[in-house]
Amino acid sequence: VEIPLREKNIVLIGFMGVGKTTIGQLVAKKLYRDFIDVDQEIEKKQNMPISLIFQKFGEDYFRKIEKEYIVDICTNTRLKVVSLGGGAYLQEEVRNACLSNCIVFLLDLSWDSWKDRMPLLVENRPLLKEKSMEEIEKLFIKRQNAYSLHNSKVSTNNLDPETVADEIVNSVK
Ligand code: S3P
Repeated sequence: VEIPLREKNIVLIGFMGVGKTTIGQLVAKKLYRDFIDVDQEIEKKQNMPISLIFQKFGEDYFRKIEKEYIVDICTNTRLKVVSLGGGAYLQEEVRNACLSNCIVFLLDLSWDSWKDRMPLLVENRPLLKEKSMEEIEKLFIKRQNAYSLHNSKVSTNNLDPETVADEIVNSVK
């Protein structure tokens, strides 16, 4: 059964550190919806930070529980605002579940703007730890293909989170 447009979950995707959590919280508040941060929920369920899940069980395990959790949210809930982890959308099943049941917003940021934020982001992000800027830029570029499969794109370059959140809210009203 097709979910009515106004009831569809709003899903935010984009690279690590573009502001998915901050903006998602604001969008949820403005639309009086519940907010789900997928990484935070996984941390609660597993009772440990993401970095430790990677360390103890490996990335493949993390990807598996991440996928199952997102597919569950997309198929069994509505009227939520959901922020995905930056790598979740690389999984085809995640993309399919999101695109068939939700409205997917890409939070877009240029590499130059992203670089300036980098020092703030390393903590608890295993994929950024001990990586060179060249390696991270490669990952950044490689992921754009998957990210291009969205319903709507919002630029976050030089914009404060309130402005970005308003843009999303206005586009679903
Ligand atoms: C990841 C992004 C992180 C988190 C994990 C892996 C990624 O989420 O899910 O560290 O592969 O890009 P954020 O996008 O919230 O940093």
